[in-house]
Amino acid sequence: MWSSFFTAINALFATPSPKYEAKYPINDLAVTPQMGWNNWNAFACSVNEHLLLSTAEKLAAVGLRDIGYQYIVLDDCWSLGRDEMGNLRYDPAKFPHGMKYVADQLHSMGFLFGMYSDAGSYTCARYAGSLGYEEQDAKTFASWDVDYLKYDNCFNEGLSGSPKITAERFRAMKHALKSTGRSILYAMCNWGEDYPWKWAHTIANSWRMSGDIYDSFDRPDPHCPCTGEEGYDCSYAGSHCSVMNILNKAAYVVHTSMPGAWNDLDMLEVGNGGMDYEEYKTHFSMWAALKSPLLMGNDVNTIDAKAISILSNPAVIAINQDPAGMPVNRMWRYYVNDTDVYGQGEIQMWSGALSGGDQVVILLNAGNSARMMNATLEEIFRHETGIAPEIKEDWDIYDLWANRMDEATAQTILDGTGVAPAGVYYNVTELSFKDGLAAGSPVLLGKLVGSVEAGGVIEREVPRHGVAMLRLRRSKTRLRAASAHQVPLGL
Ligand code: GAL
Repeated sequence: MWSSFFTAINALFATPSPKYEAKYPINDLAVTPQMGWNNWNAFACSVNEHLLLSTAEKLAAVGLRDIGYQYIVLDDCWSLGRDEMGNLRYDPAKFPHGMKYVADQLHSMGFLFGMYSDAGSYTCARYAGSLGYEEQDAKTFASWDVDYLKYDNCFNEGLSGSPKITAERFRAMKHALKSTGRSILYAMCNWGEDYPWKWAHTIANSWRMSGDIYDSFDRPDPHCPCTGEEGYDCSYAGSHCSVMNILNKAAYVVHTSMPGAWNDLDMLEVGNGGMDYEEYKTHFSMWAALKSPLLMGNDVNTIDAKAISILSNPAVIAINQDPAGMPVNRMWRYYVNDTDVYGQGEIQMWSGALSGGDQVVILLNAGNSARMMNATLEEIFRHETGIAPEIKEDWDIYDLWANRMDEATAQTILDGTGVAPAGVYYNVTELSFKDGLAAGSPVLLGKLVGSVEAGGVIEREVPRHGVAMLRLRRSKTRLRAASAHQVPLGL
């Protein structure tokens, strides 16, 4: 009797509780933020099979697929109601060969296929929504071999206003996707309503934390009434939100991201023409470092060499794809007097831990003129209590923008006459970011530009609306001068 009693007890302890089986919150997707392309920012409702497939071809040809932009995501406006069985129908005028064909083509090109629906009775552009049809629509998506679902929030029949109500509505699709048995990344898009950063990691791989982005650096807009001036508590998400607007709201919520579950700052505007080169670099740097999904939102037929050189910078993407999955935090923010035409002007410093003990630091100059900016190690490694041990160490400084592809090379690639040279380009199909970082691939580190001694200060000139984005690594070079805190290496 005793032996069977002990066997039972042992069995109890030997069997792992199912609760602890999953390593990531909901599935094993988006372990690092998802990367890809979505048509909405550049094309809105003008979608069709040709757009998706020709974009995919071009992205592969210019090397963006192999640097990690893996998902081609179709947004709103693709459907044509439901058939007599209640199944969603694709619009055959836009998708003459059907969605399964699109998926097959994309898969054969080495991409994954993303699809869009809405947790309401209609999508935002008033096509059929999935509320009440979750199981059926998830099965349809799975039958089309879809790999990703962006799930919007329009026409939700009043089923919002509290985290519990909203969570239940989005959870229904989580379960429906799971029960298809297909691995489908779940990207919630409820614009930050009902505080998804507090609960959505139990439901989705990512959640939008703000109203829609607009291709502007800092233009205030009445359609985007909430700002991050005094925290972020917003009852109307709106749209037309500038990069700085979204960033200043993200500052309050981004720490809730974790591997497998990310705050989504919305799709990238890089290449769409509304911002200048420095502003796009800032936009890309901040989205990368805050661990937002990186979904390009451009038109590959009009994209220029500058945009290619930004979007393909491996040293910045390596921050986004860092296996530690820790977003940067804003360490300080000050208003400045040199405001731009919109009356906006501020400077900020962001810092965050990376795998292997490195640290990423961003000096952001959202003032209207170039300026010298600095940050002390004490500010960079601020601890809640006591003095961070890192302050007592020496650090090498790598500039993450210094080695990006030059525009002439990017132009030859765009023209189809050149290939990206090794040393400024990274192919994730050959070595993952995780393995490349562990191996210390130089292309992922940027350019060594100096070092800072224990207790010292980092100083950089930062262009108007620009960033200095730096990786700090424990010093091996010890190129310090006795008198200087920071030694430039002849920039
Ligand atoms: C919005 C969403 C956008 C886009 C649009 C489509 O709600 O935030 O990213 O998907 O709907 O109608």
